[in-house]
Amino acid sequence: MIFETLKPQIEHIITNNKNSVDKRLLQICELLESHISYYNWVGFYFRNGNKEELVLGPYVGAPTDHTVIPFGKGICGQVALSNENFVVPDVSAQDNYIACSITVKAEIVVPVFVNGKNIGQIDIDSNTPNPFTEDDERFLEFICGKVAKLL
Ligand code: SME
Repeated sequence: MIFETLKPQIEHIITNNKNSVDKRLLQICELLESHISYYNWVGFYFRNGNKEELVLGPYVGAPTDHTVIPFGKGICGQVALSNENFVVPDVSAQDNYIACSITVKAEIVVPVFVNGKNIGQIDIDSNTPNPFTEDDERFLEFICGKVAKLL
């Protein structure tokens, strides 16, 4: 199972404190994008201080214009308010969706909690329709739990 293989590699990246936090987050994005065929854009968004908006952090994939996303807007902005995972099997069926690329068919966003507060999220876009299962959710929750310890 690819997720079980990747977990120790995630641990290894996280615990290497010779690298900056942003470098480690980027390495996680690179690891995921390169090993999971249907993860085609992988990035982190974080809350911008006390503002009700998310700012783009480290990511791998096509550059996006959406480097700042107000709370409530798009899939990411909705997760900032709901505090829950959001799995989108078909982005074309979503009204409140911010398109970054016409190749994207599906998206998953999982929040990062520090001391019970939703401080950001991992966001993954897929060019494959309906690719995500509960195993993806559990795996990304594992990653977000590790990332929380860095912040
Ligand atoms: N699709 C997201 C915007 C971010 S991009 O996927 C990189 C959304 O609807 O919030």
